[in-house]
Amino acid sequence: MIIAIDGPSGAGKSTVAKAVAKELGFSCLDTGAMYRAVAWRALHDGVSLEDTEAVGALAHTCTISFRHEQGDPVPRRVFVDDVEVTGAIRTAEIDRSVSAVSAVPAVRQALVDQQRRIGSEGNYVVEGRDIGTEVFPNAEVKVFLTASAEERAHRRVRQNADRGIGSIDYQEVLADIIRRDELDSSRDTAPLRPAKDAVLLDSSSMHVEEVIGSICGLARARMAL
Ligand code: DC
Repeated sequence: MIIAIDGPSGAGKSTVAKAVAKELGFSCLDTGAMYRAVAWRALHDGVSLEDTEAVGALAHTCTISFRHEQGDPVPRRVFVDDVEVTGAIRTAEIDRSVSAVSAVPAVRQALVDQQRRIGSEGNYVVEGRDIGTEVFPNAEVKVFLTASAEERAHRRVRQNADRGIGSIDYQEVLADIIRRDELDSSRDTAPLRPAKDAVLLDSSSMHVEEVIGSICGLARARMAL
């Protein structure tokens, strides 16, 4: 079974996807981390983000993998060709670069192929922007999780402060969220939009436990069919 969770940056997808996966005993795939990993690789190799051909070639050649901590079922550690980039892909520099990378069709093609391969291995909660629309259009459960830009900016600032990575300036974070929403929704390839058959959840006014409970309920109802 695939549970697709799509939505804009900062809506709480990662927290919710990991908790749902834990609760149901599913694996979990963070596709945003894969786009971030390609952006990291491009910056690390000094490839200009405007050189879309070179960036696309990188996505086809680098190997992105996820690993579990011992005793933790959720794979939180991210590697690019065996270099750990778990923290390095969450910096403000990557935040600024990743939309350009994820708009390159060759990058999307390479990563979508990998995502489909991974998802075909078993029961997965897959989070991203185009999971229910493009990657797994036949996903058994599709959720579009959103929240107001202001609420998402507050959460991102708290998250960055906890991690000690990224900006903790609310206005800067809000401006970045609005800019990325615009770029992600207006790009030609796989723009951010809810699938026609997605359940819309607005987490601005819901407690995170409520969101997790709703998604687990949807999944259990499908499993019972
Ligand atoms: O979820 P995130 O903020 O880590 O995602 C990073 C970027 O990757 C974001 O700008 C949108 C893009 N992305 C995408 O285009 N498609 C996905 N399935 C996941 C993320």
